[in-house]
Amino acid sequence: MIQYKPVTGEFDLTGKTAVITGGAGAIGGETAKMYARKGVNLVLVDVKDDVADVAAEFEKEFGVKAIGVKADLRKEEDAQNVVDKALEAFGEIHILTNIAGRVDLENAEDIDMKLVEDQMNVNALGAFRLTQKVGQVMIRQGKGGKIVCVTSQAGFIAIDKHVGYTMSKAAMIGMIKVLALEWAEFGINVNGVAPTVVRTYMGDRAWKGEVKERMIQAIPANRFAEADEIAAAILFLTCDESNMITGENLVVDGGFTIQ
Ligand SMILES: NC(=O)c1ccc[n+]([C@@H]2O[C@H](COP(=O)([O-])OP(=O)(O)OC[C@H]3O[C@@H](n4cnc5c(N)ncnc54)[C@H](O)[C@@H]3O)[C@@H](O)[C@H]2O)c1
Repeated sequence: MIQYKPVTGEFDLTGKTAVITGGAGAIGGETAKMYARKGVNLVLVDVKDDVADVAAEFEKEFGVKAIGVKADLRKEEDAQNVVDKALEAFGEIHILTNIAGRVDLENAEDIDMKLVEDQMNVNALGAFRLTQKVGQVMIRQGKGGKIVCVTSQAGFIAIDKHVGYTMSKAAMIGMIKVLALEWAEFGINVNGVAPTVVRTYMGDRAWKGEVKERMIQAIPANRFAEADEIAAAILFLTCDESNMITGENLVVDGGFTIQ
């Protein structure tokens, strides 16, 4: 059962521990900042070499406890190491945010299978690899938990050159629904946040020149999203204020997919 807890609108997360993948990236970094301001212990996970330095900066700036674990989520042993390091440092895991991801754009008739496999391996299989292990920990702890996955609008609409990315994010949306169904009895909420284009390294790489201008014009809000706006949606889905929401994929797209 997912318990009803009277809510205050304060979005309190004091004393929780969160594992954040893609923690050295843009949306992961903004999410970690919001959690840090709420007194959450941080386990930043990223394939980048500087993830431990990023964690040290968070400790300095926000006065929270933070560790960085370098991991390639395509690898089983790296995913296990994330869980081991998190438990060693903090004893329990209460929140998992799956934000690590990659995008490679190409026409469906031309794309190299290797690029399709890579996107599936990181965005879908990599997310499940870690989520399964963290889910086992949350079930064992018996205190429920919150799992939030960053999907994409591309997971449920067609966008030019996005075939591999769309396959991976559609798989993630399916995973969210099944986990929400199976893990509700353990008090675990599983949700997604589906952004439109976000002004990050990834967003800028995928959307340039005329294609970018056309895309902005097609978004009713008439702009791309910012990383902190995605982090805010993740924060909401991490707090008791959203306990009755599970299996959802919250779209943050300035209205792009309304029609
Ligand atoms: N930026 C956008 O326009 C946009 C739109 C919709 C969805 N998203 C999704 O948001 C998430 C975050 O994207 P972002 O814009 O912050 O990009 P980003 O590139 O800043 O962050 C992604 C992070 O994931 C890490 N990563 C990649 N492969 C990994 C692996 N195998 N193991 C561990 N870490 C790995 C990268 O090192 C990087 O730090 C991604 O899942 C992306 O698909 C982004």
